[in-house]
Amino acid sequence: MKRLDDFRLRMGQHELVPLMIGGMGVDISSADLALEAARLGGIGHISDAMIKTVADRRYKTKYVKNKQALYKANVESHDKSEVKFNLGHLAEATRLHVEATMSRKTGPGQIFINCMEKLTMNAPKETLKVRLGAAMDAGIDGISLAAGLHLGSLALIEDHPRFRDVRIGIIVSSLRALQLFLKKNARLNRLPDFVVVEGPLAGGHLGFGMDWAQYDLATIVAEILAWLKAEQLDIPVLPAGGIFTGSDAVRFMEMGAAGVQVATRFTVTRECGLPAEVKQEYFKASEDDIEVNQISPTGYPMRMIKASPGIGDGIRPNCEAYGYLLDANGQCAYITAYNREVAAHPDERRISVKDKTCLCTQMRNFAIWTCGQLAWRLKDTTLQRPDGSYQLLSAEHVFKDYQFSTEGRIAQPAPEALPA
Ligand SMILES: Cc1cc2nc3c(=O)[nH]c(=O)nc-3n(C[C@H](O)[C@H](O)[C@H](O)COP(=O)(O)O)c2cc1C
Repeated sequence: MKRLDDFRLRMGQHELVPLMIGGMGVDISSADLALEAARLGGIGHISDAMIKTVADRRYKTKYVKNKQALYKANVESHDKSEVKFNLGHLAEATRLHVEATMSRKTGPGQIFINCMEKLTMNAPKETLKVRLGAAMDAGIDGISLAAGLHLGSLALIEDHPRFRDVRIGIIVSSLRALQLFLKKNARLNRLPDFVVVEGPLAGGHLGFGMDWAQYDLATIVAEILAWLKAEQLDIPVLPAGGIFTGSDAVRFMEMGAAGVQVATRFTVTRECGLPAEVKQEYFKASEDDIEVNQISPTGYPMRMIKASPGIGDGIRPNCEAYGYLLDANGQCAYITAYNREVAAHPDERRISVKDKTCLCTQMRNFAIWTCGQLAWRLKDTTLQRPDGSYQLLSAEHVFKDYQFSTEGRIAQPAPEALPA
């Protein structure tokens, strides 16, 4: 019986363990987590989501405070079109995070950055160009183009000196999305270096509608592999979404996948950026506690634990400080929903907004607990302490479990020493 370690992922001149830890925005896929994946010979991701907030936390900068001060007069206004990102600061924050991460890299693996197109930042093209360019300047190994079709993203960076050297891949959820991406970018004569095929069981935003349950990852992967073969296109394909064990991964490798992308199992590792108490919520979740809803202002359905404190919260939009989801016209679906509720309940001090969430604020505060569909199985991956809480895992333990396990088995960690 094969193990994932019997396969290798070829990426340029690199031969890697075919395991990629997916990007998890706002610093959930932390530098520490990505660095472990690289040390162990796989691929890890950092994320540039809310990069200025991440920089403030990690590198003691003051981007958010300064931006908030700059736009203070706008706080009460419904019109957020004035709230712009300073492109110089955006580049600086991105470089800080990427450089700090890359300078600590060890081992034969790679570190990529997850770039979501839906972070439109009140100037979609200009900000995306800066984000991608700054990450390449700072020495990132690769980029995953996420949360969007990215039809124009490559053209934004075609003049960058590292354009053909950095590994650039795209996340898609259908053959059609991949075909569209390839067609729109044919002029650049640069194929993506990898394609992540994200199915309906993944964490984060879904590339499906609310009918996600009708789709099946293996079917989409088979369709994409067959098409690439027919077109004689040699692009590594990495399925993602609900791959919970090494054996699940091997099944995809035997179909012809080049590697797999996983995330949920790493949310309960010590290196993951979630606060310790939130990791316990992930462990505790039962199948009924997980839902796909439409509260993300991006318009994409998102999967999360129902008890996430950010669901239904009616906080005032905080675009002056953040504003990552403002579209090209300075609008966000949460602002509309919030203003509607304020108008409907003029005498209430604390309102609730049920249909949308202020995703910037809530993700920054780790108050939306997004997870993959199989998060309810996390409790089976560890030991329970006498007080009922669950033992956290090391990223190395989970990584090696994917790499070496067979027959659907999940390795348990060594029991931690009890306090004397
Ligand atoms: C907590 C969490 C946050 C995520 N955030 C992002 C993100 O910011 N960008 C992205 O492209 N995918 C995101 N994802 C999706 C993962 O990168 C990955 O493709 C997917 O979750 C794989 O499925 P699995 O979690 O069942 O292994 C997130 C997933 C989780 C669990």
